[in-house]
Amino acid sequence: MTIELIPGLAGVPIAKSSVCYLDGSVGKLQYRGYPIEVLAEHCSYEEVAYLLLNGRLPTREQLETFADECVHHRRLKFRIIDMMKCLPESGHPMDALDAAVAALGMFYPSDHINSVQARFDSAHRILAKMPTIIAAWERIRHGDEPIMPRDDLSHAANFLYMLTGREPDPTVAKVFDVCLVLHAEHQMNASTFAGRVTGSTLADAFSVVSSAIGTLAGPLHGGANEDVLAMLRGIPKGVDLKSWASERLEKKLKIAGFGHREYKVKDPRATILQRLVVQLFEKFGHTPIYDTALELENVMAELVGHKGVYPNVDFYSGIVYEKMAIPQDLFTPIFAMARGAGWLAHWLEQLEDNRIFRPNQVWSGEADRAFVPIYKR
Ligand SMILES: CC(C)(COP(=O)(O)OP(=O)(O)OC[C@H]1O[C@@H](n2cnc3c(N)ncnc32)[C@H](O)[C@@H]1OP(=O)(O)O)[C@@H](O)C(=O)NCCC(=O)NCCS
Repeated sequence: MTIELIPGLAGVPIAKSSVCYLDGSVGKLQYRGYPIEVLAEHCSYEEVAYLLLNGRLPTREQLETFADECVHHRRLKFRIIDMMKCLPESGHPMDALDAAVAALGMFYPSDHINSVQARFDSAHRILAKMPTIIAAWERIRHGDEPIMPRDDLSHAANFLYMLTGREPDPTVAKVFDVCLVLHAEHQMNASTFAGRVTGSTLADAFSVVSSAIGTLAGPLHGGANEDVLAMLRGIPKGVDLKSWASERLEKKLKIAGFGHREYKVKDPRATILQRLVVQLFEKFGHTPIYDTALELENVMAELVGHKGVYPNVDFYSGIVYEKMAIPQDLFTPIFAMARGAGWLAHWLEQLEDNRIFRPNQVWSGEADRAFVPIYKR
């Protein structure tokens, strides 16, 4: 039997799913059937997380109960914090997040997967603790004590508070909340797939999210948001952007923040993020790097628009986070803490009708080789 190899599994469905609808030919993105534009305008991250996990929008009462439960789980055991203090402070925050989430599994062994209630408990615990881990790491690596979470702040505002110890400006908290909504889910991407593969072995939720975090970290996936800012900053002043971009393209170098396996038009999240940039600029002043980004978007449309290569979600998110004074290497961990909702929704869905993932390969080696003893090689 000949088996056809599809590199990157491009276009190969790996599950039936009702979590996220995506039509990249027209830039349509919906969580559980609700357009991203509507959710970004009207819902908090907590509301969207509930929607993703449960498949329906919450009533006011359901939202309050869910949000309270997440608040209740925000704190970390001191042994997790002690463990993080042993990690090298120069290490990447994605690795610290990954290590801490994996370690959480040892503290909650009763979060087995055989009961639906236990699955939801694990999901809420992980969602609630990821921001605390990231903020704690930011403090620990600078030699400071982690700041305890505040119960009276939203998921978004509490994270920003734990980073600095200052309650965030309401516009900043609101914009950050929308950023979390925009990153909460994105169909069958690499990290979601990794999480589903791990979940299909009946591993627990901590292992599922840890696999997904490791996968998100790469520069072709979540890591791109850090690269965009570094790239924009590295463009020499006064350079002609069209020649700069053409030179890179000729060398077959990718331009961070552009292109997507699914979208062949501009990513709708990039459009929403641009609106957020403007809101922040109105209140806190302009960032010149945004002008470079806008010019690069135009130049790229001219040069590679015909290939369907347009800005993706990562192109403008870094500019938003930089304006909020968030350190650059926290951009991907923030992506992870938002995406936790999507990963866990897919995990719950996977378990509803599970079959272990066990793909095939196209054999490209030699078979039936004659063994030669070591003294004759
Ligand atoms: C996201 C990404 C991995 C998708 O990869 P993919 O689906 O395999 O798409 P391909 O790499 O096959 O791209 C198709 C064509 O567009 C070009 N292209 C895609 N993204 C590009 C980019 N960022 N810069 C320049 N050219 C790009 C490719 O060179 C290829 O051209 P070719 O047909 O002449 O060889 C890819 O676009 C990329 O590496 N982007 C930069 C990293 C990034 O921003 N990642 C975050 C994604 S949310």
